[in-house]
Amino acid sequence: MLSHSPNETKKIAAELALVLPPETQVVALDGDLGAGKTAFAQGFIAALGVNGAIASPTYAIVNEYGKIFHFDWYRLSSEDELYDIGWHEYLERGLCVVEWSERIPQALPEHTVRVKINVVDENTRELHFVPNILSPASPNPGTT
Ligand SMILES: Nc1ncnc2c1ncn2[C@@H]1O[C@H](COP(=O)(O)OP(=O)(O)OP(=O)(O)O)[C@@H](O)[C@H]1O
Ligand SMILES: [Mg+2]
Repeated sequence: MLSHSPNETKKIAAELALVLPPETQVVALDGDLGAGKTAFAQGFIAALGVNGAIASPTYAIVNEYGKIFHFDWYRLSSEDELYDIGWHEYLERGLCVVEWSERIPQALPEHTVRVKINVVDENTRELHFVPNILSPASPNPGTT
C-alpha cells in the first residue's frame, strides 16, 4: 500500500486500528530512520481514542497512554534491557506499539502485527502488513 504524505500514513494507521484483531498484543513498526514509524504510531494511537500530542519515545523508550504503550527500541542494545524495564508486564497490561522492533525480534509475542515501511522517495512510502509474524506459513508443514 502506498502513502504519499505523513497525513496519509496516519490515515492508513487509523484504518488498521479499526480492524485490528482483538487478540493483538503488539503492532511492530519497522523501517529506516525517518521512514514514518512515529507518524504511523501517531495516527494509530489517536484512532484508539488518545487525545493530545503523541511524541516519539526515542529517548524515553516508552510513552504510556492508558492501556496503550508506545515503545522505541532504537536505543536498546540487548533483550535483557527490555526485560529490565518490564516488557512482560507491559504485554499483560495492554497493547504495545513498537518502533524498531527488528532490534529485538525474539521479544515479540505470538500475536504481533508487523508493519514494514519502505521509503520510495521524499514523500512516498510503501507499507506492508504482516499479521501474526510468528505463525507457521502453513499448517503441518512436512506432514505426509
Ligand atoms: N508518506 C509519508 N509518510 C510518513 N512520513 C513521511 C511521508 N512522506 C514524508 N514523510 C516524512 O518522513 C519523516 C517521518 O518521520 P518519523 O519520525 O515518522 O519517522 P520514524 O520512522 O519514526 O523515524 P525514526 O527512525 O527516527 O524513529 C517526517 O519528516 C515526514 O514528514
Ligand atoms: Mg520514530
